[in-house]
Amino acid sequence: MYRKQIKNICCIGAGYVGGPTMAVIADKCPDINVFVVDKNKSRIDAWNSPDLDLLPVYEPGLKEIIKRVRFKNLFFSTETIQNIKKADAIFISVNTPIKTSGLGAGQASNLKWVEACAKEIAEFSEGHTIVIEKSTLPVRTAEIIKKILFSKLKKDINHDKTFSILSNPEFLAEGTAIKDLEFPDRVLIGGEEENAINQLKTIYERWVEPSRIITTNLWSSELSKLVANAFLAQRISSINSISALCEKTGADINEVSRAIGFDSRIGSKFLKAGPGFGGSCFKKDILNLVYLSRYFGLKETANFWEQVVIINKWQKERIYSIIVNKLFGNITDKKIVILGFSFKANTNDVRESPAIEISQYLLSEGANLSISDPKVDEENIKLSLNGIKTGLSNQDLNEYGNWHFERDIYKALKNADAAIVLTEWDTYKTINWNKASDLMNSPGWIFDTRSIIDGNVVKDSGLEFWSLGNGDYD
Ligand code: UDX
Ligand code: ADP
Repeated sequence: MYRKQIKNICCIGAGYVGGPTMAVIADKCPDINVFVVDKNKSRIDAWNSPDLDLLPVYEPGLKEIIKRVRFKNLFFSTETIQNIKKADAIFISVNTPIKTSGLGAGQASNLKWVEACAKEIAEFSEGHTIVIEKSTLPVRTAEIIKKILFSKLKKDINHDKTFSILSNPEFLAEGTAIKDLEFPDRVLIGGEEENAINQLKTIYERWVEPSRIITTNLWSSELSKLVANAFLAQRISSINSISALCEKTGADINEVSRAIGFDSRIGSKFLKAGPGFGGSCFKKDILNLVYLSRYFGLKETANFWEQVVIINKWQKERIYSIIVNKLFGNITDKKIVILGFSFKANTNDVRESPAIEISQYLLSEGANLSISDPKVDEENIKLSLNGIKTGLSNQDLNEYGNWHFERDIYKALKNADAAIVLTEWDTYKTINWNKASDLMNSPGWIFDTRSIIDGNVVKDSGLEFWSLGNGDYD
């Protein structure tokens, strides 16, 4: 039985993708009720918090939308069963991290949360339900979802359930999520049933030009998401590899980026050299692509894409070595300030942030870190740093440095030997370097991995300066 129009949406997973995406759908479709469910009660409580500064996800423009639509046609709850029952369409937007053990460990995605969702949908849905994959998933996950849904139907002959499965990957980038959702370059819908595709299309057509809504088969849609992220990440590793060459030759990576970006065949986006890409998607998606290619015996394809991840790790190691060398090869007990812990500006997300690995390297050499970030909470920093520390022996731990969190930049800089800009937060562009120089030890070093600081001003203040990919400062 096909319902003509989607009236009730359920989204399973109230994270960085589910929360903002559903907020925009609710805002654009006042006649549709959107229920976002999550098993994490504290996350749901935060989404329901009266204080909009306490929402679990920070995104420019998000709290204004939440203020407009929350408790009107957008609801956050932990009541999964009830909301699955009444949904005409269910978005699966749960986490799919890389497996840490077993077959495919370190490369394949862990699909246990997706499987759990599919089982719940199979059990509790009523009538016809469109099931939409939103999370970034390995190619052919729709097949797994399908198998789970239809195996339930086979067992239960008295059911009234039918399903359509669609892939509708999300292309939003954190920090610009609301803009990306409101003005997407394209919306991609993969599926086999025209009716279901059209129902989902009708939702997006409320605010997206029909020509920007692309429909493909399920597998093309799933693969396109991985490939889009792999291509973007590849550009970052390409430019980062050249940043090292710039430092050796006296060239300036920003000038090189600008010069090549003017070529319309290359384009100017995603050519900003930095400490390596972070975020929950790039590494995971490339590794999925590598895994898939190896699985199908395509060794050359796998090796080609794996190199993008290898360069990304190398970039972080390279930066860390430069810092240690500039500080006379010894950072034990030196105070080093980390300016920015999120993986990019305008988000409080720290997943795969280059700051984690770079901090960890510095701590393993005995540095005392003062970590500062305008939006990231101390608790998140603790979780991400502790995660890595567990592999160390007791001997290593004795020599391991300390870290503390300090939101205030100038308090962090007091008596520091060095500061490293790791995230391109606007606030770092206006640091008063004369004041910083007075507060810091001498010689005091500023390392800029995002090219946002004016090196001449820093040098005039009496501090030493190094900027990524800039041969002048080598
Ligand atoms: C990415 C994709 O852009 C998005 O389409 C997909 O849906 C999810 O993954 P996101 O990870 O949120 O989005 O942010 P993005 O802006 O792509 O940045 C990823 C990382 O690359 C960040 O660490 C960023 O600092 C870095 N980056 C980006 C660079 O180092 N240089 C650049 O030129 C661009
Ligand atoms: P993303 O960046 O893809 O949105 P997040 O980790 O931010 O990923 O969010 C995924 C959310 O999905 C988490 O809040 C997690 O608690 C939730 N989740 C995972 N599995 C389930 C499930 N079976 N039912 C409800 N919520 C789930």
